[in-house]
Amino acid sequence: MKKLLHIIASPRGEDSRTLKVSRVFLDNFRKRYPACNIEELKLFEEKLQPLTVKIVSGKYVLLGGGDLAGELKAAWNNVEIYIKQFLSADAYLVSTPMWNFGIPYKLKHYIDIIVQPKYLFRYTSTGAVEGLAKNKKMIVVTSRGGDYSPGSPSASYDFQMPYLRAIFGMCGITDITFVNAQPMDTGKDTAEKAITKAKEEARRAADSF
Ligand SMILES: Cc1cc2nc3c(=O)[nH]c(=O)nc-3n(C[C@H](O)[C@H](O)[C@H](O)COP(=O)(O)O)c2cc1C
Repeated sequence: MKKLLHIIASPRGEDSRTLKVSRVFLDNFRKRYPACNIEELKLFEEKLQPLTVKIVSGKYVLLGGGDLAGELKAAWNNVEIYIKQFLSADAYLVSTPMWNFGIPYKLKHYIDIIVQPKYLFRYTSTGAVEGLAKNKKMIVVTSRGGDYSPGSPSASYDFQMPYLRAIFGMCGITDITFVNAQPMDTGKDTAEKAITKAKEEARRAADSF
């Protein structure tokens, strides 16, 4: 494994519970792959390219089977930089809190930038979707204020895990492990137990990554 891209979607830096769990994964990952380059992408510190008319028009050109040229190609410079960085990795660690049952808007913005036809997916002649980011692994570490474990009363409100599985799965990344630290905000003792459990899961995930 040559490169792991760590996509960070919490703005809270050192205070982030998600990152506390991710760090355990990374410590063990580094032991397994000492030569692997770990690149960080702190989404809340990035000036992400807005999806302007030209960017969106470019997407439709690509969807129609065409190539970008002229003004549209120039407008796509920043999009292509993020796509290139994403595709240059063999593996991904996504660190994301749950926000309003889903993902923080910065992560959604990033996904809207990188998930592009001809780059991350394509439609085949039969109309099926083919993911173009093949042979890549992903681990997603999340933390949530409440508990959305399977079978719990809030389980059906978890739009985060199914969404991330669907969108990255469409791009060809189907080998995805989730480590969810939950519940974080219902009491100190419960949170500490949940973090300890998630750290153990993260440590084990690194052993088999
Ligand atoms: C804007 C915002 C929205 C949130 N929405 C939810 C939510 O829908 N469900 C939930 O269980 N917790 C929610 N939380 C709580 C966070 O998921 C929780 O505190 C998490 O551990 C924060 O992760 P972090 O410490 O890595 O930033 C929300 C927090 C914020 C700031």
